[in-house]
Amino acid sequence: MPLFKPVTLNTTRLVLRPLRDEDARALFVMWSDVDAMRFSFPAMTRLDQAVDRISRLSKTSTDGKDCICVVESQATGELLGTCILFHADEQCRRAEIGFSLLRAHWGKGYMNEAASALIEHAFSTLNMHRIEADIDPRNVASTRLLERLGFVREGLLRERWIDGDEVSDSALYGLLGRDRRI
Ligand SMILES: CC(C)(COP(=O)(O)OP(=O)(O)OC[C@H]1O[C@@H](n2cnc3c(N)ncnc32)[C@H](O)[C@@H]1OP(=O)(O)O)[C@@H](O)C(=O)NCCC(=O)NCCS
Repeated sequence: MPLFKPVTLNTTRLVLRPLRDEDARALFVMWSDVDAMRFSFPAMTRLDQAVDRISRLSKTSTDGKDCICVVESQATGELLGTCILFHADEQCRRAEIGFSLLRAHWGKGYMNEAASALIEHAFSTLNMHRIEADIDPRNVASTRLLERLGFVREGLLRERWIDGDEVSDSALYGLLGRDRRI
C-alpha cells in the first residue's frame, strides 16, 4: 500500500492541495529565483525545467512515495509555495520535510501555518513516528521555522555538499510524535 495519498488540508489562511500541471508558471517564479533557491537547488532558467520537475513530482506523488502539497491562499487562490514530505521510510514511519515560498510571501508566518498542518496530518492521520529536516545552517529563516515547529537540532554534518566552489554543511533536525505532546 502506498505510504502517502494526495491530500487537501485547510488552515486559517491557507489550503494545502495536490500539485497540478497548471502550477508550472507560478512555481517557475519561485524555482527561478536565485534568492529563494539559495539553499535548495540551482535556480531554473527555463519554464520547461519547471514542467519537467512537476511531472517527476507528480509521478512520485501518484506512486505514494512523496506527499507534495502546493500552498495556496484561501482568500485569493494564489499559489504561495510548496510544503512536502519526501525521502520516506515506511518501516520506520519517517519522512523528511521540505518547504519554500515565493519571495513575496516570506515573513508572514505562512510556512509555520502550512508546515504545522502537514506535520499534524503526518503524525495524526498517517501515524508517522518521526519527521526530519536537512538544512544549511546559514539558512536563518528555515532554522527559526523548524525551531518554532518544535524540531530539535540533532547534528551537524560538515562540508556535506559541494556545488561549484561552494562547500556547505547540513544541519539535521528531528521531530518525534511524542515531542509534540510534551
Ligand atoms: C524558509 C521559508 C519557507 C520560511 O517561511 P516563512 O513563512 O517566511 O516563515 P515564517 O514567516 O513562518 O517565519 C519563520 C521564522 O523565520 C523568520 N524569518 C522569516 N524570513 C526570514 C529571513 N529572510 N531572515 C531571517 N529570518 C526570517 C521569521 O521572523 C520567523 O521567526 P520567529 O519564529 O522567531 O518569528 C521561506 O523563508 C522561504 O521560502 N525561503 C526560501 C526557500 C528555502 O530556503 N527553503 C528551505 C530550503 S531547506
